[in-house]
Amino acid sequence: MKEKNAAEIHFYTQKGEAYQSLSSLQKHLFTGELLSAYWDISKGEPVLMIGLGEEALEAIQIKEVAAKAAKECQAKKIGNSVLFVDEILTFCGKEHLIDVLEGLYLGGYQEPKFTKEKEDISEPSFEIKSTLFTEEELSLAKEKTSVLCASIKKARDRVNAPANRLTPEIFAREVQEEFKNLNVEVTVFTKEDLIKMQMDALLTVGDSAQNPPFLVILTYKGDEDKEESIGLVGKGVTVDTGGYCLKTPGSMKGIRGDMAGGAAVIGAVHALAKNKVKTNVIAAIPMCENRISSGSFLTGDVISSYSGKTIEIGNTDAEGRLILADAVSYLTENKKVSQILDIATLTGAVVNLLGFTIGGLICDNEQFYQEFMEAANKSGERYLRIPFYKEHEKMIDSQVADVKNISEQGCGTITAGLFIRRFAGKTPWLHLDIAGTAWTDPAVFEFQAKGATGAAISTLYYLAGGEII
Ligand code: BES
Ligand code: ZN
Ligand code: ZN
Repeated sequence: MKEKNAAEIHFYTQKGEAYQSLSSLQKHLFTGELLSAYWDISKGEPVLMIGLGEEALEAIQIKEVAAKAAKECQAKKIGNSVLFVDEILTFCGKEHLIDVLEGLYLGGYQEPKFTKEKEDISEPSFEIKSTLFTEEELSLAKEKTSVLCASIKKARDRVNAPANRLTPEIFAREVQEEFKNLNVEVTVFTKEDLIKMQMDALLTVGDSAQNPPFLVILTYKGDEDKEESIGLVGKGVTVDTGGYCLKTPGSMKGIRGDMAGGAAVIGAVHALAKNKVKTNVIAAIPMCENRISSGSFLTGDVISSYSGKTIEIGNTDAEGRLILADAVSYLTENKKVSQILDIATLTGAVVNLLGFTIGGLICDNEQFYQEFMEAANKSGERYLRIPFYKEHEKMIDSQVADVKNISEQGCGTITAGLFIRRFAGKTPWLHLDIAGTAWTDPAVFEFQAKGATGAAISTLYYLAGGEII
């Protein structure tokens, strides 16, 4: 076998001793500014110098500089590199080792191609050198982060997958396969099961397509001492054309990615189980397509739901909340869940409000909110809490049914969330709208590639008790 090329990677803060002691020629070639990169090949083995600038960095930027290093190595076809991380970690804080590792593992990701000939996109490998941790600590952190990042990359692959290659059935069966060797019980409900269970809201959307709907339940019991679990529900619409309220061609971009919430939940459970985290999670992922068929639901229809509540359809494109409603009631009515979190690419309104880097969050419980933000703080992901009041509840009241699936007075993100909350009973509830953050074109950060981002997986991992260091 051919020896892979090797390199050393060093990070430099502009004010640091190491940078200051460079020659003026080197300083000219390598500015040390944030995300600047320079290959020094004067000493034989190539040395990659990455700049950190002069200001304190937040988690996202640390992930970015590390991802930059990974990309540089990949471009130069460097297989193995030795990474010296003391300077960056003393500058930013030791706890940011997680971000360095995450950036390294995610930086090399490329969206899958479906060509006849497969390209070799093997990712570079790294050795970490640091005096701030023991060898054991470093190897454990590497192992756990690589599990978490493998989950993120798997979710990206799924979200990037075209609708014809990831139908609800393929999705459900793949998940079943994926958890085979892990301590996770997988239950797959088929359309026939859903009919018996009277999952009418999920069936209504599912009937808009020839490919039938599925509901997948994942049960991870990593903490035998505790009876209760956190409930996670993720939207698994494998393609969203809008149904009879058909989307315009321009707004069809990325409709295959409408199962990013489901993919995030699956990814988080996978990482928790694989890293043997002591926690309990029950996840529900309703999977279906939203298309047009002769039996598709229509505006004005009044449908039923698993909870028994009736729903007036104001718009067939507001399908996500329908299937989430059934999955949320299924968990809160049948399982011992102490908290319920739903996550979905749910509204265009949240994209207008917060763009592609901040997720929308709605929550009715202060403690749950605090716990979530602590987790988000660890992952470095950005979320903004959006308030809700009685007047917003009124916007989804219906004249002919228990609730309506759209508001005619705006507040699209709030009312979509409140619709789902009506199916959560009294369980503390937190809602994430990742319509903006799940998909990016072009990439905003160095650790992303265009397309699926793998949003929310690391935050959900930390929320459920996952740790790296
Ligand atoms: N999946 C979409 C939301 C979406 C929009 C995701 C843009 C990603 C990018 C959802 O099912 C939808 O179509 N929502 C409608 C709701 C409306 C009809 C009330 C929307 O936001 O336009
Ligand atoms: Zn829709
Ligand atoms: Zn949708």
